[in-house]
Amino acid sequence: MPGVRAAEAAADIAARSGAATHDIAIVLGSGWNAAADELGSPDFETPTDTVPHFAAPVVTGHAGRLRSLEVSGRRVLVFLGRTHLYEGRGTEPVTHAVRTAAACGAHSVILTNAAGSLRTEWAPGTAVLISDHLNLTGDSPLIGPQFVSMSDAYSPRERKIVRDQFPAIPEGVYAQVRGPMYETPAEIRMLRTLGADLVGMSTALETIAARALGLEVLGISLVTNLAAGITGEALDHAEVLAAGQASASRLGRMLTEIIRAI
Ligand code: HPA
Repeated sequence: MPGVRAAEAAADIAARSGAATHDIAIVLGSGWNAAADELGSPDFETPTDTVPHFAAPVVTGHAGRLRSLEVSGRRVLVFLGRTHLYEGRGTEPVTHAVRTAAACGAHSVILTNAAGSLRTEWAPGTAVLISDHLNLTGDSPLIGPQFVSMSDAYSPRERKIVRDQFPAIPEGVYAQVRGPMYETPAEIRMLRTLGADLVGMSTALETIAARALGLEVLGISLVTNLAAGITGEALDHAEVLAAGQASASRLGRMLTEIIRAI
């Protein structure tokens, strides 16, 4: 069950948007905001923090808005921006969007993010399907004996649909770290040893919450930079956002195609 807080949020969204239920939810991470406009013009839009129990995001590039619109015949709930664990408010606000999506009736959630790539062949601007994750936050949104299976956490069915449509899209393992600092080169070498292809500060905890609620999860990372120590350059947030802006319309078109098919 999504819980009382999510039910209150969902009731508010249904009342204000006029859409009794939603089919799919999308969380747009750093740099993905501009992709939202490609999905079409919203029937309903509001600052996310006007919906019960949503906290205002603190990161630049996270607009913190919620939209409801129809895409390819599906009623879609779009979260522009998310709450991160490094904001220090725990896992509840981090996973509130996903729980709210479930309470709105969504069967699938598409989690997008900006990520550093540990693979030199994935240049900034590359979209990568998340095949699996490493939750390195030391935390979980689940409390008590909820022994949720995390095998096939990232829907094999939906990933196959995406690969059939976009045969060139690579797949990789995403490591969620807590942040907010970027990694040291030694940490990136450690992550490579652990089997990570991508590194970022979101998504895994949301996937855990989503799977516990029975949602299908599709994860897509936009590579915004090569991970620390690979190029010798320092990482900065402006670079991360710029890579997203440059790819926005392409990513938006891709999301539209994906929504049509899943
Ligand atoms: N590390 C962690 N998070 C990130 C990165 C990175 O290199 N790029 C975008 N988000």
